[in-house]
Amino acid sequence: MKVTVTGGAGFIGSHLVEELLARDYNVTVLDNLSTGSLKNLSSALKNPHFNFIEGSVLDEVLLSETLKGSETVFHLAASVGVRRIVDDPITTIRTNVVGTDTLLSVASKCGCRRVLVASSSEVYGKSFGTPFSEEDDLLFGATHKSRWSYGISKALDEILALAYHSKNLLMTIIVRFFNIVGERQTGEYGMVLPRFIKQALSREPLTVYGNGEQVRTFCYVKDAVEALIRLSLCEQAYGKVVNLGSPYPIRIRELAELVKKTLSSSSEIRFIPYEDVYGVGFEDILYRVPDITLLKNLTGYTPQTPIDKIILRVASSQNPVE
Ligand SMILES: NC(=O)c1ccc[n+]([C@@H]2O[C@H](COP(=O)([O-])OP(=O)(O)OC[C@H]3O[C@@H](n4cnc5c(N)ncnc54)[C@H](O)[C@@H]3O)[C@@H](O)[C@H]2O)c1
Repeated sequence: MKVTVTGGAGFIGSHLVEELLARDYNVTVLDNLSTGSLKNLSSALKNPHFNFIEGSVLDEVLLSETLKGSETVFHLAASVGVRRIVDDPITTIRTNVVGTDTLLSVASKCGCRRVLVASSSEVYGKSFGTPFSEEDDLLFGATHKSRWSYGISKALDEILALAYHSKNLLMTIIVRFFNIVGERQTGEYGMVLPRFIKQALSREPLTVYGNGEQVRTFCYVKDAVEALIRLSLCEQAYGKVVNLGSPYPIRIRELAELVKKTLSSSSEIRFIPYEDVYGVGFEDILYRVPDITLLKNLTGYTPQTPIDKIILRVASSQNPVE
């Protein structure tokens, strides 16, 4: 079966591509290499069942050629990372909204049947309290705070993709990722775990933004890929929004301590005000924990890899002298 992965040269995409090839799919990747890299695809590029196309999901003609013959599309291409989003909301909105609109329109015209759209826990915005379930309300901040461009763009993608499903133009699933982590993820655009690990390995201070009381969960990328492939094969998942993440919460302050302990690092932990990193008025999300009951019911799968194991795997893949 031929499948296309947009954004397949990125962190999650490249792990997905490897697993799909291992399961004998023919895989085509479309990626503009803005945050992804061919290095992530070094093993895939040796596989005769793999095809890489460099270009943008905003290019309708290229998309039509890329998607020809694809049964399923995993749509992962997006502008990501708090740093990039705060700095460049225009690219964020164009890539995430216009890109997804173009992808869905072209897919529906070239005979693709199924599209999985990558969304994010950022759509829950400032909601607080119990683990988020897919039916919960979304609570965004004011529009003059550019960080909300990402969550809002992903929420629009969701509504659009669900409309394609309900109008019988495509079968779509929305997958809301909650902090996926693992080898190849870069700390460059604001991802916390690879940054802490790099700092711990090079004995620099671990920089916690804010007071570190923010609650998150961290899901190993190979667990996320397993869940993603199972969802793509599950008829009942189409037309639904599904949370995908680890169910085990941890505070960012505790994560910094755990990274230090697991890697036996002598680094200190340094707290930095948000304003110093992202400018005045930046709002972080205090609580982001998924309810993954629906994922479990649909796929029989729960992401299980413990965070200390993930830290060790990421650390052994990083070069401490980089
Ligand atoms: N990693 C996470 O924890 C997480 C959390 C929530 C949502 N997501 C979503 O999962 C998807 C993958 O994220 P990731 O963490 O692997 O990030 P990533 O930056 O590694 O992957 C995104 C990929 O999309 C590509 N891309 C960007 N703009 C493009 C365009 N116009 N045309 C074609 N390709 C383009 C990039 O080059 C990159 O390879 C994204 O949709 C992201 O929003 C990820």
